[in-house]
Amino acid sequence: MTSRVRVGIAGTGSCMPERVMTNHDFAKLVDTSDEWIVQRTGIKERRFVSEGECTSDLCVVAAQRALESAGLKATDVDLVITGTLTPDYLLPAVSCLIQDRIGAKRAGAFDLSAACTGFLTALSVGESFVAAGRAKCVLVIGAESLSRFLDLQDRSSCILFGDGAGAAILRPWDDCRTGEVLKTTLGADGSGFELIHMKGGGAKQPPTQESVARGDHFIRLKGREVFRFAVTKMSDLIVEMAEGYSYEDIGLIVPHQVNARIIESAMERVGWPLDKVFINIDKYGNTSAGTIPIALDEARRAGRLESGKLLISVAFGAGLTWGGTLIRW
Ligand code: ACO
Repeated sequence: MTSRVRVGIAGTGSCMPERVMTNHDFAKLVDTSDEWIVQRTGIKERRFVSEGECTSDLCVVAAQRALESAGLKATDVDLVITGTLTPDYLLPAVSCLIQDRIGAKRAGAFDLSAACTGFLTALSVGESFVAAGRAKCVLVIGAESLSRFLDLQDRSSCILFGDGAGAAILRPWDDCRTGEVLKTTLGADGSGFELIHMKGGGAKQPPTQESVARGDHFIRLKGREVFRFAVTKMSDLIVEMAEGYSYEDIGLIVPHQVNARIIESAMERVGWPLDKVFINIDKYGNTSAGTIPIALDEARRAGRLESGKLLISVAFGAGLTWGGTLIRW
């Protein structure tokens, strides 16, 4: 049996669009209020891409920042993997556009579709490539331009989401000595596919004038059902990732930023306080595959990744899909 290579996170980067959409901006579009949104979700504002700006633009900057923080060049990258549900095109993969624009001339590239679990899925796949000795530098990205798929007349969904990109560089741990990926888990239950859903635009229902007029290409969700599922799944994943360790061993918990109330209820169910939980949903909303790498990058830059301490990250999303990882920083 060949031995597995230990895998580390050598660098992180992120990129948020400049355009800010506050709750007050939404109150001009739909029957809602800043008070309702803050109280029910914890979101105060989010970023939206501007006219002409797209997912790849955010990814390229996030990737360049991640490479810089790892002290690497684009030509060092062996593989680009992007988790996204909002690529620039249905065809080809946005990872190919990123590969070209950053100049990762030696790299393979592909996208992953696992919605909000997209980044942790990309991390898990990238980790396997490095662990197996098949790659020495994998660029993993989670990014979205969700604003392009929001029904701005549906108050129950449009206020939740934002745009943004985050990236991380996976390397053999011996080459970076930081952020060792100790454990990853992935799961799915496709019977819940209609809970978070974009009906139109795919092979089952290609776009027609009628389907576009009906808004079938917008994201629809059954918020209350997602809420219940999310609390249970998020808390179960945290317990699973922390197995064998105590609360004192944990330095930071970076959950998918879906709703501050979901995060609080999940932590209550785990029986742990909120003091080690990284929350930035107030600034960015839910950026789906983007939330975890963006939070990870902000946490690193804020000096919140304590050397030797454990970091737990958990996510769930459309599919349904879910994933978790345990990292020793
Ligand atoms: N402003 C004001 N009122 C609103 C708004 C709004 N933006 N949205 C809904 N309401 C109203 C509803 O119409 C309803 O009114 P009614 O009682 O007259 O029917 C009332 O508020 C309560 O609605 P609920 O759906 O029960 O509100 P809830 O407390 O569950 O909050 C929310 C809704 C925020 C969507 C919550 O259920 C949630 O966060 N769910 C999970 C989010 C989700 O699905 N995210 C996407 C998943 S993708 C991923 O990241 C996994």
